[in-house]
Amino acid sequence: MSARRAAVEVHDLAPEQEDFRDAVWAGLGRPQKTLPCKFFYDAHGSALFDAICELPEYYPTRTELSILRDCADELAALAGPGRVLVEYGSGSSTKVRLLLDTLSPAAYMALDISREHLLAATAALAQERPALRVLAVCADYTGTLRLPEIPGSAARLGFFPGSTIGNFTPLEAARFLGAMHRQLGPGGALVIGVDLKKDPAILEAAYNDAAGVTAAFNLNLLERINRELDGDFDLAAFAHRAVYNPQAGRVEMHLESTAARHATVAGRRFAFAAGERIHTENSYKYTVAQFQQLATQTGFHPRRVWTDPAGLFSVHYLTRA
Ligand code: AVJ
Repeated sequence: MSARRAAVEVHDLAPEQEDFRDAVWAGLGRPQKTLPCKFFYDAHGSALFDAICELPEYYPTRTELSILRDCADELAALAGPGRVLVEYGSGSSTKVRLLLDTLSPAAYMALDISREHLLAATAALAQERPALRVLAVCADYTGTLRLPEIPGSAARLGFFPGSTIGNFTPLEAARFLGAMHRQLGPGGALVIGVDLKKDPAILEAAYNDAAGVTAAFNLNLLERINRELDGDFDLAAFAHRAVYNPQAGRVEMHLESTAARHATVAGRRFAFAAGERIHTENSYKYTVAQFQQLATQTGFHPRRVWTDPAGLFSVHYLTRA
């Protein structure tokens, strides 16, 4: 008997190829040098991120998983069956598995920019659950997009876990929530994971793990530039820095040049002063009330929020106005 490939409906929504070289040149050309955090996730960076999720200091992943496990029944009762479950940035589709049994959706629509990873993850899920209708939508979900229609299904239910919303500034986060509000359509709802404000020592430990995995994840950005853009960054000359900025309410990650030097990227030379930093990521933290206010501004109604007993992380259920 031959192995049968599980059926996944694939939709390519022509993600715009952002030019890595142009983005790096632009970011390193600024007075405050920056590199966009979305470029962390090449194959090596994605593997490092998976390792981060297993670290003892990195509480968000395991805390969110435990909240989802605990709230799945209540969430299913609130949302009702037959919905189209739309996951933004589905990655390996690990967390959504906790919802599928209780939720009994009409279809699962996985949205991700990383095509190969998306196809592999959705094929595995479809094989595991032959009765589930699985759609793989390859798209940049931060752009404008029209989701495929599933005739006869109940309203869409968005799923945006992991506190990825924290990578956006509050203004960008409001814009993106507004975009999801539109995409989810009439009767739509959203389940979103949001990391909470807490003792800065806990936050800083989560981004400065003892094993140095987060440092490797941060430095991989320079390695990727060296590999893909013919860069000559001396990795030993840059140090990982992660600090909580209490005014802005965010953890900031930087790469600090430990001495004055130059680096060349695709033929262009950039000067670094001793101690100069490249800002590589923001990870905003919210209180429950702050996030509910942001959601309300974008037209959502906060209906229910679940947190863990230690108050580390939150999962919100929002409905459309
Ligand atoms: C995937 C964006 C939620 O900000 O905590 C983990 C990424 N960066 N450690 C986060 C990350 C450093 C993560 N997000």
